[in-house]
Amino acid sequence: MSDTQTNHLMPVFNRLPVAFTHGEGVWLTDTNGKQYLDALSGIAVNALGHNHPRLVAALHEQVGKLIHVSNLYQVPEQIELANQLAKISGMDEVFFANSGAEANEGAIKLARLYGHQQGKANGKIIVMSEAFHGRTLATLTATGNAKVQKGFDPLVTGFVRVPFNDVGAIHALQSDLDVVAVMLEVVQGEGGVSSLSPGVLGQIRALCDANQWLLIIDEVQTGVGRTGQWFAHQIENVTPDVMTLAKGLGSGVPVGALLTWGRATGVFHVGAHGTTFGGNPLAMRAALTTLEVIEDEGLCANATKQGDAIRAGLAQALSKEVAAGKVKEFRGKGLMVGIVLDRPCGELVTRALDAGLLINVTHDSVVRLLPSLIINDEETAELVARLAVVIQEFLA
Ligand SMILES: Cc1ncc(COP(=O)(O)O)c(C=O)c1O
Repeated sequence: MSDTQTNHLMPVFNRLPVAFTHGEGVWLTDTNGKQYLDALSGIAVNALGHNHPRLVAALHEQVGKLIHVSNLYQVPEQIELANQLAKISGMDEVFFANSGAEANEGAIKLARLYGHQQGKANGKIIVMSEAFHGRTLATLTATGNAKVQKGFDPLVTGFVRVPFNDVGAIHALQSDLDVVAVMLEVVQGEGGVSSLSPGVLGQIRALCDANQWLLIIDEVQTGVGRTGQWFAHQIENVTPDVMTLAKGLGSGVPVGALLTWGRATGVFHVGAHGTTFGGNPLAMRAALTTLEVIEDEGLCANATKQGDAIRAGLAQALSKEVAAGKVKEFRGKGLMVGIVLDRPCGELVTRALDAGLLINVTHDSVVRLLPSLIINDEETAELVARLAVVIQEFLA
């Protein structure tokens, strides 16, 4: 049964030659016993790190009671989590899915249905350049990356793309009477850790209000404490009509969510949308425990503190490379960190792996860090020290 010499896995991932056996906090151990500082946390998923005692205990208990029941029945854990999410977000209602793409697919469906209810039979959604919203047909169409779309034509109709951060381009689309929604990320993760400029989200909110469009904010990567507040849009004091979540919400147990507010609430009626697995008690317990631990351990504030420390620490350690123009920018908010180099740097991933550090490179030349929200001062210093050497050696 344990034969891994033959491999029937579909080769859709370019996997690194390492497998892990266990983890503890921000540390992972591989099959040879080597330890790695995990600065990626499963691409923003392991919000509480690995093997968090409260999550492990809560999941053990839940597995012994119930893992799955159908949405044909009452699921009290869903009500508990929906109430908690409503409390921290100010949103009205929640639908539970299993992934980010699925939550976004739901958001796109909801925007279309909203359009129909407004008499717009060919509703269009304004999306951004460099956006990433997932790999289903509709979400890959919304994604602003030709590589993700290549070969999957015909794509889904009803999307119109504008440059990220360009309010004027959205303003100009007011004359298009088919528009029903604007969909965006506040900080684009896959798109190079780029943030909306201060004030832009408020201006987009105002345009949505003036035109009765829905503002859909994809917080799949930015949400649940990652950027230093519960949700990245809260920094701008703006409430979206639709928000999507996944990744860190379940700390590793798959769970996605679609939240509505204001004019988006009440659009989905009975039978308009559905899921078999979405909202099962195990996923709900994982998310409830994640939210509790983030609150109790002050992890939103920790994300701001440690993210700032990583950016400042790297800026200091790499000051020569910055002066030489080889390191161009330190980006991001909280524990979404981007280091922009002057050249493609994909090979940094294997160099870092050798140095016992898990990182990612996105957009060819942006080193991306997404450590767990529990990372402490000492671990942050270690991350900075290891990464600075890896980057210096690469740029030398
Ligand atoms: C902003 C954003 N939206 C959606 C997705 C898709 O999520 P999933 O991979 O869970 O389908 C991702 C994944 O990276 C993401 O970063």
